[in-house]
Order: sequence, then structure tokens, then C-alpha cells
Amino acid sequence: MKSVLFIGLGRIGLPQALVFASKGFKVYGFDQDPKIPEQLKKGILPFYEPGMQELLTQHLGENFLPSAQTQDLVTALTQSDALFFTLGTGVPNSQTCKTTEGFDLSPIYQLLQQLLQHPLKKASVLVFRTTLALGSMDRIKSYIEQNFPLTEGNEFHLAFIPERLVEGQAISEEEHLPKIVGTYNDQGYEKITTILKQLGGKIIRVRDPKTAEFCKLTDNSYRNTLFSFANELALSAADNHIDALEVIHAVNADYARNNIPKPGYASGYCLGKDPYIFEYSFQNISQNRGFDSLWYYGRRINDWLIDYTVDKINKNLKNKNGKIVILGTSFKEDIDDFRMSHSLDLAKALISVGYQHITFFDPNMDLNKYTQLPENLQNCQKTKILDSALFENAEAIIIAHRHQLLRQQNAATQLQALLKKAHQPVYIFDGWNIWREAATLPFVHYEALGYALTTKGSAS
Ligand SMILES: NC(=O)c1ccc[n+]([C@@H]2O[C@H](COP(=O)([O-])OP(=O)(O)OC[C@H]3O[C@@H](n4cnc5c(N)ncnc54)[C@H](O)[C@@H]3O)[C@@H](O)[C@H]2O)c1
Repeated sequence: MKSVLFIGLGRIGLPQALVFASKGFKVYGFDQDPKIPEQLKKGILPFYEPGMQELLTQHLGENFLPSAQTQDLVTALTQSDALFFTLGTGVPNSQTCKTTEGFDLSPIYQLLQQLLQHPLKKASVLVFRTTLALGSMDRIKSYIEQNFPLTEGNEFHLAFIPERLVEGQAISEEEHLPKIVGTYNDQGYEKITTILKQLGGKIIRVRDPKTAEFCKLTDNSYRNTLFSFANELALSAADNHIDALEVIHAVNADYARNNIPKPGYASGYCLGKDPYIFEYSFQNISQNRGFDSLWYYGRRINDWLIDYTVDKINKNLKNKNGKIVILGTSFKEDIDDFRMSHSLDLAKALISVGYQHITFFDPNMDLNKYTQLPENLQNCQKTKILDSALFENAEAIIIAHRHQLLRQQNAATQLQALLKKAHQPVYIFDGWNIWREAATLPFVHYEALGYALTTKGSAS
């Protein structure tokens, strides 16, 4: 039985660790937060993923061994054929991605200091699946070789294999997604592919770890830019009193060359930072030609939807005391993860211009550590119940997500019942175009992203 060690049992580490266990590996799991292994040992998951509870129940204590004990870590290091690094990384923004190094590897160096003072199994592979700035693997390689009596290709191998899963489908994607592998030599590649082959999914070799890093940043920068195209289109359509959805439907219909997505907020733990991480490696070109990368502007465009929405609220609410309801708090629909969510940024931006009464709705509110409101939003109201009480006296409603629960309530009669206690008139800004029927209600002033055809009185 081959053994692997996971360092970081979060949203990418834990699903992968359990999939490895399900394929017959002996899997050690460590996390710097001792609560995670403690809870796992009791069979309690730190977040939800379909199929994950079953895997935990099946493999816990058998071939899945979570721990926070140093002694267990030392044993795992001497036995593991591969060490998977699945911890979180730095989060640059539109400024820090340009002006500072921004991509501090010192947390990884500290971790390596902690690990490599103990013996490793001969020629084990150190696999980084965490998001890294371009060139990080080369720096990590130099750091290890300069600080320890270890040489890549002899005592250890290095591999970068970008993590590409989407939350909510982590278990099935770990098994089926193609894995892009970058190593420094053939031996490292062969060692890691022997392990990966048992997991499932195609293996795609690229020439070195730096190319694999570039692939990771390409993935999310591409998706983010695609969404920004739809969002830019939406702004222009609304400004010209054109319905963006009508345009997108018309140009996509039976025309395979077009596949424009619908407009909507785009944020989150990867889309929100990867284009900025990518921008860092574009600096020479930006400086030479005097403007930044397409993906940098794509991210700025998506970030700017926050200001656009605040501006809409400012124009439609005459005073700052009105209650504002934000529907959806996660970074994308139907997941239990609020990190780097545009909904939180929206609330912060509204508070910064003086709004005081903000209520969040999300069906996963307070479910786990990923679905807590941050410290600076503790004064906001919150609920996981979607009913008429949520909208009582609401003067503005922002649809921040297309959660299934919200999409199911889209008929005029349902909306009439939900909104019956709202202030009259009430302003709705629909970031996902899912409650268009609300425009038919006499007391609603409805606008959507890419749709500003109606004109009715403003609230308060
Ligand atoms: N969440 C996603 O959908 C996703 C998708 C692709 C890539 N990624 C990338 O994967 C990385 C991890 O993201 P995540 O969402 O799993 O984060 P996470 O915060 O859910 O998990 C990281 C875990 O690592 C632990 N950790 C941090 N430092 C540690 C250390 N020194 N020793 C042991 N444990 C440590 C943390 O306590 C945490 O539990 C990030 O770089 C992210 O960009 C995430």
C-alpha cells in the first residue's frame, strides 16, 4: 500500500485526501488548525461536499489518518511516497499585485523548515497543488537545496500540479479532471504519475513546473475575463436601454462561434485573486507598453460591479437609514463558502458610504467556519430563512446570487407574497436577472445587470 501525506485539510486538501483513501492509499492528513483533525476524528466534516461524508465514514481510522500530533507527522514523513501541499496562499489585490512582491513564500519556507528537519522517505515527491505565482517552484527548489542537504532528483522530487476543482463537485472532479503535471525530470514525473494514475483523470505532462504554474493562472484568468466580457457588455446595454440578455441570446443562438456567458458577479477564492497573481508576471510588458494585461482589466471590471451596485443604491434610496437586503452571501451560488465573496465586499462598500441597516440572506449562513460573517460585518443582520419577514420594511434588495432557492421563487405571485411586507416602493437590483417578474409588481422599481428598461418612482 502506498502512503501519501496531505498538509492542509481545507477545501482542496480534504476532498483529495479522501479520494486517495478511497483508491486504497494510506493517507495521513495534517492541518495547522488542530480543530480540523480533532473534528474529523469524530467523523465531523469542516464543510460540505457531495459524497465526502460517506468517504470519511468509510476510511476514517482505517486508511485515512488525520492528526495534529508532531509524532504522527514524523512517522508520516518517513513513510509517505508523496507529500501534497494544499494550504492557502496570499491574496493580492489590484494594487499589491503591482507594487510589492505580493507573493510571499515565507509561510511555505517556514513549513518546509518544520518538515525537513525530519527524515523523508527516499525520493518522495513534494507536490504543490496550492496556487503559486509564476516562478515559485524554482524558488522553493533553490530554498530547499540551499538550506538542507537535499538535492532535487536525488533525495526528493518536486512537482507542481495545479488544482482546478470547483467547490460543490470536489470529490467527482478529483477523480475525473485531467491533471496537468510539471516536474524537473523524468524520474520525478514517473514517480508522481504512478501515484496519480490510481486516482483517475487524464495526465497531461508539461515541460516544467513553471509551465504548470502558468497553466493554473491561465485557467482562472481566462474564465474571469470571459465573465468580465459579459459584464462589460451588460453595462453598455443598460446604459443604451438595451436588454443584454436579449443580445446574448440572439448572438449565441445556433452560432457555435459565440458562447457568451450571462452577466453576473464573479468573485471567490480563485477567480478573485488568480488574475492579479498572473498580472505580477506581466509587469515587464505592462511597463513597456503603458497598459496592463487583459486579465488584470478583466478582474478590475468584475470588482467594479461593487461600485456600480452601490451607485445604483445611492441613486434609488434617498437616505441612508433604509433597510437593504443582500440575497446570497457565498462567492458563488449554492456553496458553503463566503471567502472573498462579492456580497461581503458589497456590504462593506455600502457601510463605507453610510448605510447602516444591511441584512444578509444565505441558506448556508453559520453552517461552518467558511460561512461566518467577518468581524467587520458583525453589526449586519443575517438569516438563512427566505420569507416575507426577511423583506419587512426593506427599501432595497440586491440579488447577489442565483441560488437555487432564489431561482425557484421567480413567479410574480411568489414574489408578491415574499415582498408583501417590503417598503413601498422597494428598489430591486438584480445582479443575475432571475427575478424579472418583480418588474410587473406595481410597488417595485426593478433593474438588473444589463437591463434598465423600466422607470418607476424611487424609494424613501
Ligand atoms: N477552494 C477552491 O475551490 C480552490 C480551487 C483551486 C485551487 N485552490 C487553491 O488551493 C489553495 C488552498 O485553498 P483552500 O480553499 O483549500 O484553502 P483552505 O483555507 O480551505 O485550506 C487550507 C488549509 O491549510 C491549512 N494550513 C495553512 N497553513 C498550514 C501549515 N503551515 N501547515 C498545515 N496546515 C496549514 C489551513 O488551516 C487550512 O485548513 C489555495 O492556494 C487556493 O488558491 C482552491
